[in-house]
Amino acid sequence: MIYLDNGATSLPKPEGVIRAMTWAAGHLASPGRGSAKPSEQADELLYTLRLTAGEMFSCEPQNVILTTSATHGLNIAIRSLAKAGDRVVISGMEHNAVVRPLHALGADIQAARGALFDNGALLRDFDRLLTRDTALCVTTQVSNVFGWVLPVREIAALCRERGIPLVVDAAQSAGVLPVNLREWDAAFVAMPGHKGLLGPQGTGLLLCGEHTRTAPLLAGGTGSVSRERDMPDFLPDRLEAGTQNIPGAAGLLAGLRYLRTQGLDSVARRESDLREMLTGRLGRIPGVRVFRGEKQTGVVSFLAEGRDCVSLAGELAAAGIALRAGLHCAPLAHETAGTLETGTVRASLGPFSTAGDVRFLTRTLEQLLA
Ligand code: ALA
Repeated sequence: MIYLDNGATSLPKPEGVIRAMTWAAGHLASPGRGSAKPSEQADELLYTLRLTAGEMFSCEPQNVILTTSATHGLNIAIRSLAKAGDRVVISGMEHNAVVRPLHALGADIQAARGALFDNGALLRDFDRLLTRDTALCVTTQVSNVFGWVLPVREIAALCRERGIPLVVDAAQSAGVLPVNLREWDAAFVAMPGHKGLLGPQGTGLLLCGEHTRTAPLLAGGTGSVSRERDMPDFLPDRLEAGTQNIPGAAGLLAGLRYLRTQGLDSVARRESDLREMLTGRLGRIPGVRVFRGEKQTGVVSFLAEGRDCVSLAGELAAAGIALRAGLHCAPLAHETAGTLETGTVRASLGPFSTAGDVRFLTRTLEQLLA
């Protein structure tokens, strides 16, 4: 099987990730809930994870929260900073992980748009929409459908100027592009563990800004200030009720270490070379429309004339190629791009993708469309 669905979950995982998870499942207990070695070692593991992630993403270690997913982190972030009726400005590329929590809250959602891959137009629309009465701005760093790299640094500058808290969805960028909480002065940055960070499903990180108001989604035991009925007012305990996913944390830490050893730059360069190869080859297949832009990661959407994208992805799967088709849980992004009615087929590269994978996909597609 050729795996080109890294936008959903990265596969394969580095060997060290599997080994770390197996070891943790067999040896570690609940952090902060025991006085013996298995509990202490679990505590140390979590601290090392926070420290490592904090170094990578410019965040104080105690402000690195272990979540179950980027969605979990985004729900905490949104609930902490917005309430019903608040004006919230988002990008027109947002995933349902942002749109649905805002809708459930009853926020007044305003989407900044521009033609696909046009950062100038998008910024102009953010500039227009980020008025002084805006309670919150939420933007993705990279579209999960089109791989479009949004101008987060510039959006962050607009928010800073106007005193508007910013939440960044780094679901498709963490492990692929630099993510920097401090430089953006973001209130929160949410990311999954199981995509670019090469950890297991069921893990994620939420980075909290130093003076950000935080509202726990869950209340419960934290192994600290147990006499209090209120959740602790300090991080990370405030946002981590219940025993954490220790095997998951061990796998995620191993994923971060793998990335650090490889170097983010070299991972990104390799992915960018392969993306160029993929978009170039797809573009030469008659009847194929490829969505490509100057600022793009290894996430590439395409359409084939006269073919339903879900059936085409099914045919590609039957030929041994794993990718994703449809709306990718991001109807707003498709609406912005004008592909809401058709959806797209999406190939997403990862650190283990090869030129052979790209050749196999494009040759197979050519044969299927001939
Ligand atoms: N949001 C993930 C994707 O784009 C799951 O496939």
